[in-house]
Amino acid sequence: MKTGWWRPGRFWPASLAWRTGLTLLLGFSIIQAVGLGIHVLNQIDVNRVVAERAIASRDGAIYRRVASAPPERRAVIVAAINGEAGDRVSLDSSPPFADSFTLPLPTRQMIQGSLLAFPTPEFLQPRQVMMRGSMSPSTLILSFQLPDSPDWLTVRSPFRPSPPWAQPGFASAFLVMFVLGGLLIFWGVVRLTAPVRTLAAAAEQLGRDIAHAPALPERGPVEIATAAVAFNTMAARIRRFVEDRTFLLTAIGHDLRTPITRLRLRAEFLEDDAQREKILADLAELEAMLAATIAFGRDVAQTEASVPVDLAILLRTVIDETADIAPGAARRMRYQGPDHVTIRGRPLALKRAFANLIGNAVKYGHAARVSLQKAERHTMRIDIEDDGPGVPPGELERVFEPFRRLEISRNRETGGSGLGLAIARNAIRAHGGDITLANRPGGKGLVASVYLPE
Ligand SMILES: Nc1ncnc2c1ncn2[C@@H]1O[C@H](COP(=O)(O)OP(=O)(O)OP(=O)(O)O)[C@@H](O)[C@H]1O
Ligand SMILES: [Mg+2]
Repeated sequence: MKTGWWRPGRFWPASLAWRTGLTLLLGFSIIQAVGLGIHVLNQIDVNRVVAERAIASRDGAIYRRVASAPPERRAVIVAAINGEAGDRVSLDSSPPFADSFTLPLPTRQMIQGSLLAFPTPEFLQPRQVMMRGSMSPSTLILSFQLPDSPDWLTVRSPFRPSPPWAQPGFASAFLVMFVLGGLLIFWGVVRLTAPVRTLAAAAEQLGRDIAHAPALPERGPVEIATAAVAFNTMAARIRRFVEDRTFLLTAIGHDLRTPITRLRLRAEFLEDDAQREKILADLAELEAMLAATIAFGRDVAQTEASVPVDLAILLRTVIDETADIAPGAARRMRYQGPDHVTIRGRPLALKRAFANLIGNAVKYGHAARVSLQKAERHTMRIDIEDDGPGVPPGELERVFEPFRRLEISRNRETGGSGLGLAIARNAIRAHGGDITLANRPGGKGLVASVYLPE
């Protein structure tokens, strides 16, 4: 199962948390941008007024200096002031207003107000004031007609209101808001998606270990609590179903034993030796099948506890024990891999599974080469290889079905019930792993591969 939050080559992340987070962050950014735009527009207005007011009071001061000086000194004063603070000051016979435009009324009123803010004695007040604007370069032009002469004092000031983003704190305020919003979204998404992760983990645990999986807590928001109740009810039903089936299998196995024992006793009294031997052999097979059936039922119930298991030692033990039973194949059995690998698992179930796989390899393939290695992340891979005829491709999955046996094994009278692979796969899947079978290239034998999470 792929659980990565991102699928390579795709823009949209795979995880619900990331999707929700990204969507919210995108919406939040748009709202931020709109808010910021409104703020910028407001700030532009404010900055313009501030700049106009500064020019007006500067020009007022220049006018008062020139107007209060005796007329013959004025040209010198103007020449001295000219260029200060970027202003171009001149004394002309008329207001020079080429390619300029009339300022909007609010602006004119504003400048007028700023000029009046400094009380000027009656005899110094200008006869006329004209104000214009000019583009490229943006300039504010104020022209005053002096009280005692027909001349006009003109001041051209560069008009450069500071941009809103030059304001100190503008960037940091934006950043702080963005980070705070992002944190809030992160926190909300993590909280919101936590129950989904809990549910997934609970389902995974139930799949691995029906008997011991803990119940989900049935609290929290209504939707989550309802889902938890539904999940627990389902888990209880599955558990009861499995228990019923196990009970049924055990009961049948147990009840059939008595009549089989009676049959065997009666068969002992048969006159015909050949018939008696055949009947006794059939009865023995029946008993073996019953024992296997009961073992299968017990396996499904999984009463064994999960403990740390050394997989390498377990595999070596199984190989040694199989070699004891089939000394002829001992030379063609070996283990390859690390000396110690510890995983969590149910040792008896694991041992039974590997005993069957290694037993099969020896029984049907005359050899068992076992190798243990690390597969991908957090997964161990155990390969069991033999030199037998392998399994026809169409049967590779079917041999895992209970009681499924191939003709070769029947003909050879190897005496099995056909439950081994079913039990093995059951046990490995209960550990969160799986078993697959594959034929070695060239028909040289079979490889059973077991994957187990670390
Ligand atoms: N390594 C193998 N090579 C060839 N055929 C195999 C191999 N392993 C299993 N099979 C085939 O798959 C069938 C099912 O195997 P399984 O282990 O489930 O049952 P079994 O070995 O016949 O009986 P049991 O394991 O219950 O004693 C076997 O009967 C055999 O035909
Ligand atoms: Mg077997």
